[in-house]
Amino acid sequence: MGREERIIRTYFGGKAASGTYQKIINQIRPHDCYIEPFLGGGSILLSKKPAHISIGVEIDPAIYAKWNSKLRHLTIPCLTIQHGDAFEFLRNFNYSQYGRVCVYLDPPYPHDSRKSKHRYAHELTDEEHRELLLLIQTLPQNVDVLISTYPNLMYAEALLNWHCIRFQSQTRKGLAWEMLYMNYHSVDDLHDTSYAGQDYRDRERIKKKVVRWVEKYRQMPSEERSAIFQALCQIENVDQNTVPLTSTDKNTDVCSDISPKQLNLFV
Ligand SMILES: C[S@@+](CC[C@H](N)C(=O)[O-])C[C@H]1O[C@@H](n2cnc3c(N)ncnc32)[C@H](O)[C@@H]1O
Repeated sequence: MGREERIIRTYFGGKAASGTYQKIINQIRPHDCYIEPFLGGGSILLSKKPAHISIGVEIDPAIYAKWNSKLRHLTIPCLTIQHGDAFEFLRNFNYSQYGRVCVYLDPPYPHDSRKSKHRYAHELTDEEHRELLLLIQTLPQNVDVLISTYPNLMYAEALLNWHCIRFQSQTRKGLAWEMLYMNYHSVDDLHDTSYAGQDYRDRERIKKKVVRWVEKYRQMPSEERSAIFQALCQIENVDQNTVPLTSTDKNTDVCSDISPKQLNLFV
């Protein structure tokens, strides 16, 4: 992680705490376009494998300015940070143009659910939370929506039919229960597998296993390798002809940062 990323990450209410961002990333399905409408320090945006297009929206001019000054140091292709209102963005974005879209929302939590007296320069009233909860339920089918909050009745009632996981996270006031609601029920495939596992130990175990198995596979005679590859494709129901065996197809559509002005093309 570069110095610029660390500065942006030390953000109040951010999801950068160890164990927290990994839990959220482990619920994110593959997508082409990633949107974080309440950006703040953008811990998820900075931690997960980038999408082809990533967009952050932040209403606070000071936070927006911070991102803007760090943008060229970040290694996220096609990243746009927009200064604006999440509601307006969510209402006007042209979702149908961007394949599989993932929207992760981490709005300032409802006041009643919070222990801390800290207040953001831009908060949401209960009325605005209700509006947001309705709005995210109107997004089209190609959009995966995830929203974080502390346990509270308003969210529980409004998102009754959504899938939800609960986990503890470390905050400046100690451990707190976090809720993550999703508009989908199964996570068969992950966008980013680098944090797979229940906790630190489990993640380390999986990482080591991956290294061991990949090395074993690499050293096999090509015939044996091909047989294993075919069998794996069958298990995963993948057409082996569409899977490149070499890594020559590295993301070629890396484009330079898109300015907020260019972002108008998206809506
Ligand atoms: C809880 S923080 C997000 C923290 C972030 N997930 C992280 O990991 O650092 C919520 C952010 O939403 C911003 N915000 C509040 N109202 C907004 C709105 N209407 N549109 C866009 N951003 C908004 C706040 O300024 C704040 O930076």
